[in-house]
Amino acid sequence: MTKVAVWCRHAEDNIIGIGPHIPWHIASDFKRFKRITTGQNIIAGEKTYESFPGRTLPERDIYVLTFNADYEVSDPGHHFVVTNIQNFKDMEGDFYIAGGASVYKAFMSGSARLLPDIIVDSVYRGELAPGLSGPRIDITPCVETMLKNYRRMSAEYELDNVVTSVWVKRGDFVEQSVLKRIIQAIEEE
Ligand SMILES: NC(=O)c1ccc[n+]([C@@H]2O[C@H](COP(=O)([O-])OP(=O)(O)OC[C@H]3O[C@@H](n4cnc5c(N)ncnc54)[C@H](OP(=O)(O)O)[C@@H]3O)[C@@H](O)[C@H]2O)c1
Repeated sequence: MTKVAVWCRHAEDNIIGIGPHIPWHIASDFKRFKRITTGQNIIAGEKTYESFPGRTLPERDIYVLTFNADYEVSDPGHHFVVTNIQNFKDMEGDFYIAGGASVYKAFMSGSARLLPDIIVDSVYRGELAPGLSGPRIDITPCVETMLKNYRRMSAEYELDNVVTSVWVKRGDFVEQSVLKRIIQAIEEE
Protein backbone atom coordinates (compact mmCIF):
# COMPACT_ATOMS: atom_id res chain seq x y z
CA MET A 1 0.00 0.00 0.00
CA THR A 2 1.29 3.45 -0.90
CA LYS A 3 -0.11 6.64 0.62
CA VAL A 4 0.39 9.84 -1.37
CA ALA A 5 -0.45 13.33 -0.09
CA VAL A 6 -1.29 15.83 -2.83
CA TRP A 7 -1.64 19.52 -2.00
CA CYS A 8 -1.21 23.00 -3.39
CA ARG A 9 -0.12 25.55 -0.78
CA HIS A 10 0.59 29.22 -0.90
CA ALA A 11 4.28 30.12 -0.81
CA GLU A 12 5.70 31.24 2.58
CA ASP A 13 2.47 31.10 4.65
CA ASN A 14 1.41 27.55 3.56
CA ILE A 15 -2.25 28.54 3.30
CA ILE A 16 -4.38 25.97 1.45
CA GLY A 17 -7.80 27.49 2.05
CA ILE A 18 -9.78 30.48 3.28
CA GLY A 19 -13.06 29.31 4.77
CA PRO A 20 -14.28 26.61 2.39
CA HIS A 21 -12.43 28.06 -0.63
CA ILE A 22 -9.09 27.40 -2.27
CA PRO A 23 -7.97 31.04 -2.64
CA TRP A 24 -6.71 30.78 -6.22
CA HIS A 25 -8.01 29.28 -9.42
CA ILE A 26 -5.29 27.75 -11.55
CA ALA A 27 -6.76 25.46 -14.21
CA SER A 28 -3.46 23.65 -14.77
CA ASP A 29 -3.25 22.84 -11.04
CA PHE A 30 -6.70 21.20 -11.10
CA LYS A 31 -5.72 19.31 -14.25
CA ARG A 32 -2.53 18.05 -12.62
CA PHE A 33 -4.52 16.84 -9.59
CA LYS A 34 -6.93 15.09 -11.95
CA ARG A 35 -4.15 13.37 -13.90
CA ILE A 36 -2.45 12.17 -10.72
CA THR A 37 -5.61 10.88 -9.05
CA THR A 38 -7.87 9.56 -11.82
CA GLY A 39 -8.50 5.85 -11.35
CA GLN A 40 -7.19 5.99 -7.77
CA ASN A 41 -8.58 5.92 -4.24
CA ILE A 42 -8.99 9.37 -2.70
CA ILE A 43 -9.09 10.25 0.99
CA ALA A 44 -10.88 13.51 1.82
CA GLY A 45 -12.08 15.16 4.99
CA GLU A 46 -15.79 15.85 5.22
CA LYS A 47 -15.40 19.58 4.48
CA THR A 48 -13.26 18.98 1.41
CA TYR A 49 -15.65 16.28 0.20
CA GLU A 50 -18.56 18.73 0.55
CA SER A 51 -16.60 21.22 -1.59
CA PHE A 52 -16.22 18.84 -4.57
CA PRO A 53 -18.72 19.82 -7.30
CA GLY A 54 -21.68 17.47 -6.88
CA ARG A 55 -19.82 15.93 -3.90
CA THR A 56 -17.94 13.66 -6.29
CA LEU A 57 -14.77 13.23 -8.33
CA PRO A 58 -15.41 11.22 -11.50
CA GLU A 59 -13.50 7.97 -12.00
CA ARG A 60 -12.27 7.91 -8.42
CA ASP A 61 -13.36 6.09 -5.26
CA ILE A 62 -13.54 8.48 -2.31
CA TYR A 63 -12.98 7.57 1.34
CA VAL A 64 -14.59 10.34 3.38
CA LEU A 65 -13.14 10.89 6.84
CA THR A 66 -15.77 11.99 9.35
CA PHE A 67 -16.50 11.24 12.98
CA ASN A 68 -20.17 10.95 12.00
CA ALA A 69 -20.88 7.27 11.26
CA ASP A 70 -24.30 8.27 9.88
CA TYR A 71 -22.83 10.61 7.25
CA GLU A 72 -24.48 10.08 3.86
CA VAL A 73 -22.25 10.13 0.78
CA SER A 74 -23.54 11.07 -2.66
CA ASP A 75 -22.54 7.81 -4.38
CA PRO A 76 -22.57 4.84 -1.98
CA GLY A 77 -21.19 2.51 -4.67
CA HIS A 78 -17.94 4.46 -4.89
CA HIS A 79 -17.78 6.65 -1.78
CA PHE A 80 -17.17 5.23 1.68
CA VAL A 81 -17.32 6.68 5.17
CA VAL A 82 -14.30 6.10 7.41
CA THR A 83 -14.63 7.17 11.04
CA ASN A 84 -11.29 5.86 12.29
CA ILE A 85 -8.15 7.03 10.50
CA GLN A 86 -6.26 4.07 11.98
CA ASN A 87 -8.11 1.83 9.50
CA PHE A 88 -5.82 3.15 6.75
CA LYS A 89 -2.86 1.36 8.35
CA ASP A 90 -4.15 -1.99 7.16
CA MET A 91 -6.02 -1.26 3.95
CA GLU A 92 -4.96 -2.75 0.61
CA GLY A 93 -4.26 -0.51 -2.39
CA ASP A 94 -2.89 2.96 -2.96
CA PHE A 95 -4.49 6.05 -1.43
CA TYR A 96 -4.24 9.70 -2.45
CA ILE A 97 -4.77 12.08 0.47
CA ALA A 98 -6.52 15.15 -0.91
CA GLY A 99 -6.99 17.23 2.25
CA GLY A 100 -8.09 19.38 3.83
CA ALA A 101 -5.76 20.65 6.47
CA SER A 102 -7.10 18.54 9.33
CA VAL A 103 -6.68 15.39 7.26
CA TYR A 104 -3.13 16.20 6.10
CA LYS A 105 -2.30 16.98 9.73
CA ALA A 106 -3.91 13.77 11.03
CA PHE A 107 -1.83 11.66 8.64
CA MET A 108 1.37 13.60 9.22
CA SER A 109 1.31 13.91 13.00
CA GLY A 110 0.05 10.48 13.93
CA SER A 111 1.91 7.20 13.97
CA ALA A 112 4.69 6.45 11.51
CA ARG A 113 2.42 3.96 9.75
CA LEU A 114 0.05 6.77 8.77
CA LEU A 115 2.72 9.02 7.27
CA PRO A 116 2.36 9.44 3.49
CA ASP A 117 5.07 7.60 1.56
CA ILE A 118 5.06 10.27 -1.14
CA ILE A 119 4.10 13.96 -1.12
CA VAL A 120 3.24 15.92 -4.27
CA ASP A 121 4.09 19.44 -3.10
CA SER A 122 2.71 22.23 -5.28
CA VAL A 123 3.55 25.79 -4.23
CA TYR A 124 1.54 28.72 -5.58
CA ARG A 125 3.63 31.89 -5.80
CA GLY A 126 0.89 34.34 -6.82
CA GLU A 127 -1.50 36.54 -4.86
CA LEU A 128 -4.38 35.13 -2.83
CA ALA A 129 -7.81 35.84 -4.27
CA PRO A 130 -9.25 38.96 -2.63
CA GLY A 131 -12.59 39.23 -0.85
CA LEU A 132 -12.82 35.72 0.65
CA SER A 133 -14.04 35.51 4.21
CA GLY A 134 -13.40 32.81 6.77
CA PRO A 135 -10.44 31.38 8.63
CA ARG A 136 -7.10 31.15 6.84
CA ILE A 137 -6.25 27.46 6.86
CA ASP A 138 -2.59 26.50 6.65
CA ILE A 139 -0.55 23.30 6.73
CA THR A 140 2.70 24.68 8.18
CA PRO A 141 3.25 21.68 10.53
CA CYS A 142 2.96 19.31 7.55
CA VAL A 143 5.44 21.33 5.52
CA GLU A 144 7.88 21.31 8.44
CA THR A 145 7.54 17.51 8.70
CA MET A 146 8.07 17.22 4.96
CA LEU A 147 11.23 19.34 5.00
CA LYS A 148 12.63 17.37 7.95
CA ASN A 149 11.68 13.78 7.10
CA TYR A 150 11.32 13.65 3.31
CA ARG A 151 13.68 14.21 0.42
CA ARG A 152 12.91 15.68 -2.95
CA MET A 153 12.90 12.99 -5.65
CA SER A 154 12.02 14.99 -8.74
CA ALA A 155 12.87 18.16 -10.57
CA GLU A 156 10.82 21.27 -9.83
CA TYR A 157 8.15 21.72 -12.48
CA GLU A 158 6.93 25.29 -12.89
CA LEU A 159 3.67 26.20 -14.63
CA ASP A 160 1.31 29.17 -14.16
CA ASN A 161 3.13 30.37 -11.05
CA VAL A 162 2.90 26.94 -9.41
CA VAL A 163 6.07 24.98 -8.66
CA THR A 164 5.54 21.24 -8.13
CA SER A 165 7.96 18.66 -6.80
CA VAL A 166 7.71 15.12 -5.46
CA TRP A 167 9.03 14.14 -2.04
CA VAL A 168 9.63 10.68 -0.56
CA LYS A 169 9.98 9.62 3.07
CA ARG A 170 13.66 9.35 4.00
CA GLY A 171 15.03 5.87 4.58
CA ASP A 172 11.92 3.99 3.45
CA PHE A 173 11.28 1.80 0.46
CA VAL A 174 8.86 3.45 -1.95
CA GLU A 175 6.94 1.66 -4.67
CA GLN A 176 8.83 2.76 -7.78
CA SER A 177 5.92 2.18 -10.15
CA VAL A 178 3.75 4.61 -8.16
CA LEU A 179 6.52 7.21 -8.06
CA LYS A 180 7.10 6.85 -11.79
CA ARG A 181 3.39 7.17 -12.60
CA ILE A 182 3.09 10.36 -10.53
CA ILE A 183 6.14 11.99 -12.10
CA GLN A 184 4.87 11.09 -15.58
CA ALA A 185 1.49 12.67 -14.75
CA ILE A 186 3.25 15.88 -13.68
CA GLU A 187 5.54 15.92 -16.71
CA GLU A 188 2.56 15.63 -19.08
CA GLU A 189 1.69 19.30 -18.51
N1 LIG B 1 -5.11 23.76 -1.61
C1 LIG B 1 -5.34 22.46 -1.48
O1 LIG B 1 -4.56 21.63 -1.94
C2 LIG B 1 -6.55 22.00 -0.72
C3 LIG B 1 -6.94 20.65 -0.77
C4 LIG B 1 -8.07 20.26 -0.04
C5 LIG B 1 -8.76 21.19 0.72
N2 LIG B 1 -8.34 22.48 0.73
C6 LIG B 1 -9.02 23.49 1.57
O2 LIG B 1 -8.91 23.06 2.93
C7 LIG B 1 -9.99 23.60 3.66
C8 LIG B 1 -10.70 22.48 4.40
O3 LIG B 1 -9.81 21.95 5.38
P1 LIG B 1 -10.34 21.63 6.83
O4 LIG B 1 -9.18 21.18 7.65
O5 LIG B 1 -11.13 22.81 7.32
O6 LIG B 1 -11.42 20.46 6.58
P2 LIG B 1 -11.28 18.94 6.06
O7 LIG B 1 -9.99 18.38 6.54
O8 LIG B 1 -11.60 18.87 4.62
O9 LIG B 1 -12.50 18.27 6.81
C9 LIG B 1 -12.57 18.32 8.22
C10 LIG B 1 -13.49 17.24 8.70
O10 LIG B 1 -12.97 15.96 8.38
C11 LIG B 1 -13.27 15.06 9.42
N3 LIG B 1 -12.02 14.58 10.02
C12 LIG B 1 -10.84 15.21 10.07
N4 LIG B 1 -9.92 14.44 10.69
C13 LIG B 1 -10.55 13.29 11.01
C14 LIG B 1 -10.12 12.10 11.67
N5 LIG B 1 -8.87 11.93 12.12
N6 LIG B 1 -11.03 11.11 11.85
C15 LIG B 1 -12.31 11.26 11.41
N7 LIG B 1 -12.76 12.37 10.78
C16 LIG B 1 -11.89 13.37 10.60
C17 LIG B 1 -14.14 15.81 10.41
O11 LIG B 1 -15.47 15.67 9.90
P3 LIG B 1 -16.79 15.71 10.84
O12 LIG B 1 -16.85 17.10 11.39
O13 LIG B 1 -17.91 15.41 9.87
O14 LIG B 1 -16.62 14.68 11.90
C18 LIG B 1 -13.67 17.23 10.21
O15 LIG B 1 -14.61 18.21 10.64
C19 LIG B 1 -10.90 24.30 2.64
O16 LIG B 1 -10.56 25.67 2.59
C20 LIG B 1 -10.50 23.63 1.33
O17 LIG B 1 -10.78 24.45 0.22
C21 LIG B 1 -7.26 22.89 0.02
